[in-house]
Amino acid sequence: MFRSRRVPGVSSGPPSPPPRPVSVVGIGADGWDGLPEASRRVLREAEVLIGGLRQLQLVPADDCPGERVTWLSPLRPTVAGLIAEHDGRRIAVLASGDPTFYGIGRTLAETVGADRLHVLPHPSSVSYACARLGWPLEDVEIVTLVGRPVASLVAALHDGRRLLVLSANRHTPGAVAALLREKGYGGSRMRVLEQLGGPYERTVDGTAGGWDDDERLDALNVVAIDCVRDPDALRLGAVPGLPDEAYEHDGQLTKRYVRAATLAALAPAPGELLWDVGGGSGSIGIEWMRTHRTCRAIVVEKHPERAERIGRNMLALGVPKLRVVTGPAPEALAGLPVPDAIFIGGGLTAPGLLDACWAALPTGGRMVANTVTLESEALLAEWYGRHGGELVRLAVATAVPVGGFTGWRQAMPVTQWSVTKGSEEG
Ligand SMILES: C[S@@+](CC[C@H](N)C(=O)[O-])C[C@H]1O[C@@H](n2cnc3c(N)ncnc32)[C@H](O)[C@@H]1O
Repeated sequence: MFRSRRVPGVSSGPPSPPPRPVSVVGIGADGWDGLPEASRRVLREAEVLIGGLRQLQLVPADDCPGERVTWLSPLRPTVAGLIAEHDGRRIAVLASGDPTFYGIGRTLAETVGADRLHVLPHPSSVSYACARLGWPLEDVEIVTLVGRPVASLVAALHDGRRLLVLSANRHTPGAVAALLREKGYGGSRMRVLEQLGGPYERTVDGTAGGWDDDERLDALNVVAIDCVRDPDALRLGAVPGLPDEAYEHDGQLTKRYVRAATLAALAPAPGELLWDVGGGSGSIGIEWMRTHRTCRAIVVEKHPERAERIGRNMLALGVPKLRVVTGPAPEALAGLPVPDAIFIGGGLTAPGLLDACWAALPTGGRMVANTVTLESEALLAEWYGRHGGELVRLAVATAVPVGGFTGWRQAMPVTQWSVTKGSEEG
């Protein structure tokens, strides 16, 4: 193999100086008064101050004479250009609260690189909220509804759990209350904490059951929820294998126990992407995504009315970011992002489907396929012979009344092939 090598005595020119760091200063509702000296110094010495209008107005111009640049909206596509435009100058970016908590810190790290950032955090809204409530932050589930549908909250609802919701605006608390009532959590205590850390800080206390949308709330708020489930509300656990009643379906549903075994075989890990091919009611993709908020899934379903039903199930079960592709596989798989795992719950005998799924799977990726038909089982046996893995038969029987006695009702046995793609396989 050819490798480039530095030739002694031959210089490739002086190394260019490393780019200047970009300071990112968190500022709270208490503005300049609440800033520590280190943050004030950075802002005083900055040649360029970049931020939202609200943050820039919190910084006194006589103390901080640097040029002021207001973010443009939408922000993300403009960040890299704006930083590049002022390259070589002392740049300070103003951020609300803790810049690395649902803030500009992420965008900056992704665009200019984490190494170049010098972040001076301020307490975040959730740190303030926990301080006011006396809640240990590490025990609290945090859900953001900024730019996300209120349905995102559903997956976090568990009796006795404490939640902190980052609101999008003054109507978020009302929407949260309506959702809590709809899901049988109307007895939950809700506290809306406004303008945390600032002179206009205020807490509004109530229950989801008695909460009305209120125009007078401040747009800058966090909602604290003590979850209380009505005893007759459907209980959804935190692990796969939700009750079948949790789904709207037309019979095309991987039933609870087989579903739990299927998710165990798929073994989702945070951040991973699943293709759920032949989605039916969407249960495998939905439960994959419920295992961790960073998990992603794409469900492919050829029947439009089933695809619409998957859309309703994903909202009802708290994973509004599930992607539904309506169309027949393998054609509908073209162009989808590379998955970490593939589940095939339907369409196994469609020409080229298994081949297309296998070809799309990267080395180390997992594939799980379920079937109840002999034709598809023959196919799975053949692929098992070729690629190994595990072939199992799942036979679930449920006790039901038989006259005055009790007997087993046997569901159709499901054949499941699961395999991890090895490096030697094409
Ligand atoms: C048994 S159901 C899957 C159940 C699903 N795992 C669930 O729990 O809801 C099989 C589904 O695959 C769909 N299907 C069959 N062939 C397909 C294909 N070639 N492409 C996409 N979907 C297909 C069917 O319409 C049906 O909804």
